[in-house]
Amino acid sequence: MDHLVVEGGVRLDGTVEARGAKNAVLPVLAASLLTDRPLVVPNAPRLADVDTMAGILRALGSRAERREDGAVEVCSDTIQSEAPWELVRKMRASFGVLGPLLARTGRAEVSLPGGCVFGVRPVDVHLKGFRALGARVEIEGGNVVAQAPPGGLIGGEVYLGTSFGSSVGATMNVMLAATLARGVTTIQCAACEPEVTDLADCLVAMGAKIRGQGSPTIEIEGVDELGGATHAVIPDRIEAGTFLIAGAITGGRVRVANCRPLHLGSLLDCFWRAGVPVERGRDWVEVRPPEGGLRPTDVTTQAYPGFPTDLQAQWMALMTLARGVSLVTERIYPDRYMHLAELLRLGARIRRQGTTAVVEGTPRLSGANLTASDLRASAALVLAGLVADAKTEVHRVYHIDRGYERIEERLQSLGARIRRVSDGSQ
Ligand code: EPZ
Repeated sequence: MDHLVVEGGVRLDGTVEARGAKNAVLPVLAASLLTDRPLVVPNAPRLADVDTMAGILRALGSRAERREDGAVEVCSDTIQSEAPWELVRKMRASFGVLGPLLARTGRAEVSLPGGCVFGVRPVDVHLKGFRALGARVEIEGGNVVAQAPPGGLIGGEVYLGTSFGSSVGATMNVMLAATLARGVTTIQCAACEPEVTDLADCLVAMGAKIRGQGSPTIEIEGVDELGGATHAVIPDRIEAGTFLIAGAITGGRVRVANCRPLHLGSLLDCFWRAGVPVERGRDWVEVRPPEGGLRPTDVTTQAYPGFPTDLQAQWMALMTLARGVSLVTERIYPDRYMHLAELLRLGARIRRQGTTAVVEGTPRLSGANLTASDLRASAALVLAGLVADAKTEVHRVYHIDRGYERIEERLQSLGARIRRVSDGSQ
């Protein structure tokens, strides 16, 4: 297991490129199960989660490989319909193979994902969606077993809202299944996240008929078969946002190139409110040093285009240094606060009141040994380490490697003093 050692105090300066989006590439790779033709993702990021998805696809019978040019190519000419528990339990997004397996083979058996550190994370809405397409869905031995009616799935109408907004994963899973169903499927209260739109664009390139992606109503007209495609996924807005917050927390000047500023609207608004100057072009965003320090800035996480839950921990790290009190409210995963206790170890002043964290800014943080608990919480700890006095060690960095490609090298390129140390133990 590796850990990261960060020596704080350097103002970051430079340009870093956003990679392909983790949360776009995972469902796109799952889409390869819908066709016996090759699907190529030229800009698939080198992440542990991408390797896990490739492993699951291989276990299902696909050929999935990283080519010499860096692209990931998957060919699913013969597949089976059972996804093994040992692989599925590693990553919740692997539940996204259920929709395509069911559509292509008429049957799918996929291990029910467990809870995770930030809550229960049910899949009831996914299952409701498959049932609306005529599938029989049961839980047997910890697995979801889904069976299409004779002749295959049938288009239907389904509402995919939850008490916490629309479900991104369910929208994708049902959209994937509906591409090969007979007739038209209408998804109401569909998630509008850019990753959903990106998946729809990939499916359309494969021959699917989809309208309304990016809006709360998506219509899918089933087709008999899908073909292969080459699809570059959208840049990772969460990774881009994390680097921009890294710039802001160090009072530096960081440009993120190859990103989509439109996908970052809520974050850019927060920077503006916090007094962090932002410049942007067609495919880049740059933060500059705030004049007169950071202004305390409240955020509430919401479905897109609201402030993303996946940037909540990083924003909280930034607000620990603001000149006053900020409220950070989590509306998607009410228990997503594992980073809070670790930030306290750096001297941050934060208290939790229900689903809100009250963050009282302090002039300085002081380095400490920290334990990462999940992907975005780990990123927040690294950001705090960049500005803390002395040395911060962030342990269990395998969480970070799930979603950030070589984060230490890219922060080093901006001037950060950060290095990876291998503990040589498991
Ligand atoms: C996706 O998870 C992302 N993961 C998450 O990113 C992200 O935090 C989340 O969307 C919200 O934006 C991937 O794309 C791989 P949801 P997903 O279904 O699809 C409830 C990261 O750090 N719900 O939109 O699993 C659920 O509990 C990860 O990159 C149900 O009640 O999230 C939550 O409160 C973490 N029943 C809300 O809906 C269901 O059947 C939204 O969850 C499904 C969800």
